[in-house]
Amino acid sequence: MRPVRLLDQSLKFKKMNNVIQFFLLAFALTFSAFGQSDTSNSNIIIYRKSLDIIPKPKEVKVLEGWNLISQGVDVQFDNESPSPDLLISVFKKSNIKVLPVYPKKVIVTQSYDLKEEGYELNVTSDTVFIKYGDVFGLKHATTTFSQLVLLNKSAHASTIHIPIVKIKDWPRFEHRGLLLDCSRHFFEKEVILKYIDLLALYKMNVLHWHLTEDQAWRIAIDKYPRLESVASKRTEFDGSEYSGIYSKEDIREIVKYATSQGIEVIPEIELPGHSQAAIAAYPHLSCTGKRVEVANDWGVFKEIYCAGNDSVFIFLEDVLTEVVDLFPSKYIHIGGDEAPKSRWEECPKCQKRIETEGLKDEHELQSYFIKRIQSFLKSKDREIIGWDEILEGGLAEGAVVQSWRGFEGGIAAAQQGNKVIMSPTSHAYLDYDLKSINLEKIYSFNPIPKELAKAYRSNIIGGECNMWTEHVPDEKTLDQKVFPRMLGIAEALWSHTTKDYTDFNRRIQSHYAILERYEVTYGEESHPFTYSTFTRNDSLFVELIPATKDLKLTYQFAHGVRDNAIEYQKPIYIDSNKSIHVQAFKNNKPYFCVLDFPLARHKAIDATVSYESECNEWYTAGGEHALVDGKLGTFDFRDGNWQGFWGNDAKVKLSFEEVQRSKEVRVNAYQYNNSWIFIPTQIELMYSKDGNSWNSFGPTIPSNVDPKKRGKFIHEFIILSNEEVEFKYLKLQVKNLGKVPEWHEAAGSDAWIFMDEIQVK
Ligand code: ACM
Ligand code: ZN
Repeated sequence: MRPVRLLDQSLKFKKMNNVIQFFLLAFALTFSAFGQSDTSNSNIIIYRKSLDIIPKPKEVKVLEGWNLISQGVDVQFDNESPSPDLLISVFKKSNIKVLPVYPKKVIVTQSYDLKEEGYELNVTSDTVFIKYGDVFGLKHATTTFSQLVLLNKSAHASTIHIPIVKIKDWPRFEHRGLLLDCSRHFFEKEVILKYIDLLALYKMNVLHWHLTEDQAWRIAIDKYPRLESVASKRTEFDGSEYSGIYSKEDIREIVKYATSQGIEVIPEIELPGHSQAAIAAYPHLSCTGKRVEVANDWGVFKEIYCAGNDSVFIFLEDVLTEVVDLFPSKYIHIGGDEAPKSRWEECPKCQKRIETEGLKDEHELQSYFIKRIQSFLKSKDREIIGWDEILEGGLAEGAVVQSWRGFEGGIAAAQQGNKVIMSPTSHAYLDYDLKSINLEKIYSFNPIPKELAKAYRSNIIGGECNMWTEHVPDEKTLDQKVFPRMLGIAEALWSHTTKDYTDFNRRIQSHYAILERYEVTYGEESHPFTYSTFTRNDSLFVELIPATKDLKLTYQFAHGVRDNAIEYQKPIYIDSNKSIHVQAFKNNKPYFCVLDFPLARHKAIDATVSYESECNEWYTAGGEHALVDGKLGTFDFRDGNWQGFWGNDAKVKLSFEEVQRSKEVRVNAYQYNNSWIFIPTQIELMYSKDGNSWNSFGPTIPSNVDPKKRGKFIHEFIILSNEEVEFKYLKLQVKNLGKVPEWHEAAGSDAWIFMDEIQVK
């Protein structure tokens, strides 16, 4: 096809597709947006060629020379295009400095031999050539060029020097998403629009918009006004009201803008679980029909839609009819996760449905529920996405599975021929802190597990990172959680290249200035340090290991005046139980807050630990040494120190090289019943000198933490012997509550024990 100038092309595009035209105009504006600010008195300016594009393009060839973008070269618009003034006002809105700086010439051609979303960008000394196959390819070409402009713009130069470069690029995966939970906390329309810009800048193409929850319903539905007047509000513990809803007008504006940026907005309307807010507004939707409040606490709740009541399906079909009208997306996400079945087990209507439909159990009833909704959405020409629980009780044909509890659900679905989106908690959960998922970890994400046979791999259509917002009350915290980690997943989902974290991390540094232009309050890349303990000549030491070479660490033993802090140079001697407070510095500026961690000095450090019962693979705390390493678990149960046992008792044996003498042993346990973690009901300790005959060490003082009590608690169990006893072995049996109790929203689920240090005094 003959290359056509942008000027001529705009008319043609207009006829073809408004979206394409928008991209081109946005492209032109990229140049207008980043003008010169020549404040330098120096005559010599050294230009660094930056090709630090994220996500890394498939093929990049850099040639000698520059394309100079400078002031005063016009791009003209034909009569039918919006005027430059109008476009400039769009950019003013986004706070980007507008200056009349343009490339000399841009030539855009369509080509039919490019991959989906593919493009070629060829920067020569006087012209920028773009080849694209579809509108998305054109969009990605402009994004790459925008990044080249931003990365190569020097603060001291009146011209922007773009390296002469040939780029050929297309994505590895077709689905590259961010889940944003706007139910737990509400984010204003402007925040959503900012995130659409950021998704587009990093070639992500899906905003998975989580709009309904136990704690709020956030999408206005004309037919059910109580979803706004009741379900969009909750009363917080302190009595204040927390509310927010997106009007249909807001949603139309957001969807329109997202479409113009090449982003598909997929709404998530949760069913049958996570639906307590809707039930608070319309109690007849639940099995009991009883009034409940919109939830004001985090967790999983047992009030779910009744599966035996046809009026529930009428409600959901009405809602989905309005949803489909607002969102043109191919997929509608229907949730499907974390739906406790206790209400269904007791509900005559649900039980009748099981009988009349010939279903085996409540899992098959859930499958019936999902398939019925799927069939309705099919009649509206939409497909469904559901969390991996939709596999239980029989997976609906054609449903896309979003795998979050590891990769296994995704593997099983792909093997059954269903399409899969991977977003496992191990790699893709942005609500997890940097100790669990740092930038390197998220960058290492590969949606295709090795164990999946090649024949099924094309069923994995991509991945998402999930931003749940229970603990994200505002835009600043949101930015800190999402960035820079979203850039890691953007590259993991787009780029075909072999992973090279060092190179990626180097490129990331160039992007902080870009994120600042978008007013992103980005967070850190990693937790600043790890720490380990070791003993030498019976003395305990702690070693601090900075995450990167450019971090300096200082520490002190007590809170308070930081002047007393000591620069960390060598392992620290620990003579007794104490907390260390560490502050990291990068370029002489504090990096991260002060971090505290408690340490314990006791006789079991270095004991050998063996298990008679398995700890859970997600919470091993690093292995068998964790219970006697001197590192104490903190109030963050994901701090890497707590060992978790799910549904079973913990049975642990400690073996010592020498005979020990003691009359006191302490064991820490954790409670956070929102996450089904309870203080153990009982702890028994036995001791032995020969490993054959065992005696009881002594009574354990019972816990005074009420299992019903909300919040996070650490209880120290103390086991006291009347007199000092001698032993080479200790056996600890820690009793699990077993099942989450009746009064709890998730009654009947397996309960957790979390325990950490076993301290022999
Ligand atoms: C989820 O994180 N409950 C999908
Ligand atoms: Zn029911």
